[in-house]
Amino acid sequence: MQEEPVRRNHPKDRIGRVVVHYAMEEEAAGLARRLELGPPTPLHEGLPARLRSGRVGSIEVIQCTHGTDPSHGVDRIGLETACLTAWALMTSQEVDLYVNAGTCGGFGARGAGIGSGYLASRFLYHDHRVPLPGFREQGEARIEATRRPVLEELLGLEAGPVSSGSSLDATEHELEFFERERVVAKDMEATAIAAVAMDLRTPFMALKTVTDLVDHPEPSHQQFLRNLESSCGLLTDRVEALVRYVGRGVTLEHLGDHPTPG
Ligand code: ADE
Repeated sequence: MQEEPVRRNHPKDRIGRVVVHYAMEEEAAGLARRLELGPPTPLHEGLPARLRSGRVGSIEVIQCTHGTDPSHGVDRIGLETACLTAWALMTSQEVDLYVNAGTCGGFGARGAGIGSGYLASRFLYHDHRVPLPGFREQGEARIEATRRPVLEELLGLEAGPVSSGSSLDATEHELEFFERERVVAKDMEATAIAAVAMDLRTPFMALKTVTDLVDHPEPSHQQFLRNLESSCGLLTDRVEALVRYVGRGVTLEHLGDHPTPG
């Protein structure tokens, strides 16, 4: 049976509901405290994902985290969970603006340091290798993001390509891909969520903060553990500034969205 289509805000309407989707609890906890969001509730009986909500000025903010994997006792990270969680959320709630916020690997070669922040200008996958016509392109995704100059300026962040995959480290092949595509942020969720947002025509953006430099000799996981707390603090500052700005009452058009045909 066909589901009721989810009503979408027109770009000229004021934004009423913002979702901020994080993979890990540690990434999300600071914002929940600062915005005094309510207690976590389940997103869906079949998923460990949790929602916390509250009001900021004129908007409702729903924060989503992937939750704890019951088999392994750690946050459920990665593309599959990101995709499923985003789909469950976008099809069950009207969402005017969907934000993926999280940590990422950065690139010293493109001027990043620990704590650098980026807004996505394009979404790629770096580890979907399918050397067949059409399927190669499908594997790489290459989804163009809506550019948001107002937010780039407000947050003082550069925009650049974000590439998602299923591993924290990187192969030689992937390092070549990052150079070729001038990737500024390597993560494990953004492109999967961008693909769902494109299918469901939900205005989307990704805001990433660097915990480790992919092109540094020290392994990413060691850098990640050392820098997670400080980078999450910066991520929280940026997301808080974003939602407080949107909560002052802005339209999607003001943030760069245009009406989609059909
Ligand atoms: N999140 C933080 N650092 C990362 C990295 N190097 N790769 C993928 N996801 C990350």
